[in-house]
Amino acid sequence: MYLFNLIYRAVIYIFPAYIANSTALIFGGGKPIDKGKKFKGKRILGDGKTYRGLFMGFIFGSLSGWGLSIALSDPIILKLGIALSLGALLGDIFASFLKRRFNKKRGSSVPLLDQLDFVVGAVLAGSIVKTPSLHVFLLIIIITPILHLFTNFLAYLVGLKKEPW
Ligand code: CTP
Ligand code: MG
Repeated sequence: MYLFNLIYRAVIYIFPAYIANSTALIFGGGKPIDKGKKFKGKRILGDGKTYRGLFMGFIFGSLSGWGLSIALSDPIILKLGIALSLGALLGDIFASFLKRRFNKKRGSSVPLLDQLDFVVGAVLAGSIVKTPSLHVFLLIIIITPILHLFTNFLAYLVGLKKEPW
């Protein structure tokens, strides 16, 4: 069935971005990337964007791409995983930069931006290696906010996140 095939392709495509994003959350913390610096009186990125999160997200996201490339014997997925991971982390950092410019505190909620920042960054960077079809892209955009809210709520329940979103 076309829909199942589409879901399969979307999940396989975006998987490393999800791993990068969630391992940044799980293993992140410590020294903030902006070193506490401000730009026009507001933090550049805030305490929620750390070197450790960036590094761990990149390593685990890329490793997941490597694992997937072996499992599916498709070497492109390794390259894709690296690009997706980097794009996901940079997209998330860019969203925090925007949030700080609009006076939003670290951890405050901006619906859609909070859930889609990393996938948009990931698809932009991933497209350098392999462009997803329009349907795959749209499906990713539709399922991510739902999935993200659900996993964030789980992270909140186990105490990894301060806010349930
Ligand atoms: N994290 C990190 N380093 C990153 C990305 C994420 O350490 N590069 C960790 C931080 O502990 C962060 C958590 O993952 O608090 C959740 O990420 P996110 O929801 O993007 O950050 P928020 O704390 O909500 O901050 P912001 O308002 O800037 O989005
Ligand atoms: Mg957030």
